[in-house]
Amino acid sequence: MRLDKTKQGWWKDAVFYQIYPKSFQDTTGNGTGDLRGIISRLDYLENLGIDGIWLSPVCRSPQVDNGYDISDYCDIDPIYGTLADMEELIREAKKRGISIILDLVLNHCSDQHPWFLDAKKGPESPYYDYFIWRDAPNDLDSVFGGSAWTYVPELNKWYFHQFAPQQPDLNWENPRLRQALYESIRFWVDKGVEGFRLDVIDQIAKEPDRHITINGPRLDEYLRELSAKVFHPEPLVTVGEAWGADVERAKLHSAPDGSRLSMVFQFQHIGLDQAPGGAKWDIVPLPLVELKRVFAHWQQGLRSSGWNSLFLNNHDLPRTVSRWGNDGQYRVESAKMLATMLHGMAGTPYIYQGEELAMTNIRLRRDQYDDVETHNLFRDRLALGYSEEEILRSVHARGRDNARTPMQWTDGENAGFTTGKPWLPVNENHSFINVEAALADPDSVFYHYQKLIRLRKTMPIFREGDFTLVDPENSKIFAYIRHWEGKQLLVVCNFTAETLAWELPQPFQAARCLIANYPQDCSGLRPYEAAMYYLD
Ligand code: NOJ
Repeated sequence: MRLDKTKQGWWKDAVFYQIYPKSFQDTTGNGTGDLRGIISRLDYLENLGIDGIWLSPVCRSPQVDNGYDISDYCDIDPIYGTLADMEELIREAKKRGISIILDLVLNHCSDQHPWFLDAKKGPESPYYDYFIWRDAPNDLDSVFGGSAWTYVPELNKWYFHQFAPQQPDLNWENPRLRQALYESIRFWVDKGVEGFRLDVIDQIAKEPDRHITINGPRLDEYLRELSAKVFHPEPLVTVGEAWGADVERAKLHSAPDGSRLSMVFQFQHIGLDQAPGGAKWDIVPLPLVELKRVFAHWQQGLRSSGWNSLFLNNHDLPRTVSRWGNDGQYRVESAKMLATMLHGMAGTPYIYQGEELAMTNIRLRRDQYDDVETHNLFRDRLALGYSEEEILRSVHARGRDNARTPMQWTDGENAGFTTGKPWLPVNENHSFINVEAALADPDSVFYHYQKLIRLRKTMPIFREGDFTLVDPENSKIFAYIRHWEGKQLLVVCNFTAETLAWELPQPFQAARCLIANYPQDCSGLRPYEAAMYYLD
């Protein structure tokens, strides 16, 4: 089912699929994925039923942070192909009803960007004020560990970077910098790109001297300007990564008049299994009651105004089936359960590559990891006295490379991802978790996602219905009801490996089961059982 993308707000009916290009499909044998690889898999994505691809960064980059360090905003990195390949990808995707959504990294660029290289000449450079310089650092730390300031001896100055030193922060207070960014965004709109995901967008309005890195006072002003200057009048879809968003902020960021963004990725649910006061590496069991409360808060909070994004996975997060499901005996059941839980809600769902196969986390040795964040973690925590085993435990559970292992296409060599040496090890479980096997099995996780996508597109209740938790204090079952125009949708999910006593509430005994991960049987809930019931 194709959406009419000339319609304002088309993205409210859409389902997006995130591609991490380095790990999707290699066609050159160099061990990294590329744009031609994505083109070769468009039919697969069309079959899944998605409407758009969020493509993690493919612009020219030294790849210190896998493309989130851009050295040319208007060119394609040679490891991924050429501008012509990108144009072909946009065209070929469009033919299949699939929009390309580019990842815009506007908070920082690469230290190899000509702007930064020139800025390092000193205050007389026209680019000096594109960056944030101080005579002395303060105590702010970077997200990847270590100080947020790096010294440039030639200038006897320090520059600010919220991420790696190779990712200098851009100074949004400078209107010339903003204008230069807008021009590069227009470059892609003119090429046919239909939307953008905006990397750490709530960090652009930083004021490091006041220790403000997120939700700075000028954030809303910048978002309004960005939207007015580049996102209008096109019916583009824009989704901002906003770790600092609460419901009130998200309402503003996604104001229905289109004056800012279409929606944001908020992360309140993502931090729930993190020890209070600790870092993401300090893990506690998922409190299900709290997870339900958080989802209900967002569902209800953005009902009258604004719009939700729906996601459990991305390239920065561990695989959810390993995290909140069961990647052993109940991998298939729990992956379908998690998908059912999420796709029953209001919002725009995002599927991360391999999620539709229930790809799992991986356990690598320290020397096999690629991620800059993981390497810094070893450096910092070893210095603090943690043992290597303890750190590995955290990395196995939370490291970003869990999500970045190559896409598993077949049970053959390197999972059909490359004929060369993959840049990151392929998970050995590709022997049974792979696209070929999923497509051959009518009961696979892939077809469950395909069905969820179809349901959303054919039944307005998914978009329009309200949201009420059933039995909010139940710590094992996540159930909710959506109401819309006299119709009701019940979603019920068992989050445990146990069989639980449960009865279909009245009036759903007369309801139609839209989708389930077990054959129908109304007594109790089997391990990770999930179903949706519809009453009209
Ligand atoms: C968020 C991106 O998702 C992540 O992968 C990246 O490392 C940081 N922003 C810095 O760009």
